[in-house]
Amino acid sequence: MLPVGLLMIEHRLIERMIKLMRTETSKINNGEDPKVQFLHAVTDFIKTYADQCHHGKEENILFKSLVKKPLSEKHKQILNELAEEHIFARKKTRGLEEAIKKYLQGESSAIPKISQFMHELTEFYPQHIEKEDKQFFLPCMDYYSKSELDTLLNDFMAFDKDLVHEKYKEIVYSWEADQGDTI
Ligand SMILES: [Fe+2]
Ligand SMILES: [Fe+2]
Repeated sequence: MLPVGLLMIEHRLIERMIKLMRTETSKINNGEDPKVQFLHAVTDFIKTYADQCHHGKEENILFKSLVKKPLSEKHKQILNELAEEHIFARKKTRGLEEAIKKYLQGESSAIPKISQFMHELTEFYPQHIEKEDKQFFLPCMDYYSKSELDTLLNDFMAFDKDLVHEKYKEIVYSWEADQGDTI
């Protein structure tokens, strides 16, 4: 499999979450109370899967290795756009988290904000994914030799392997800090 095949498979799961988010957003817009449990699942999914795991592989492995290649102007431009777009998604996810927190504190004015951030994220991801899938990933594979492609794929898989350990380490450390415990 080409290394970007792995990223494209991840795109398909992100799309499924985006579909769920769209449905929840229209329910909120129709006056239903936001489902907090689902919203927590959304922010966890976006932060851990879409950002840390998926954007993490793109930025820390693929983009970093591509900048060392003699990229065409078009590919250079797309790479910069994609990196900027990841920053945009992080900002919107933080906004969503903040709005959920306010809602849980009893601020009903947070509901339209939840809806707005959900809407922006559901508009953002499909366009970002389409740009990567259709304009960037496959043509960029031509910059690599067969053995470089194998290394890239191995690096992607190694990146995922550590991720779950990092995530749960962070969770335990942050709860320890919360309780005033330190190692
Ligand atoms: Fe991306
Ligand atoms: Fe992606």
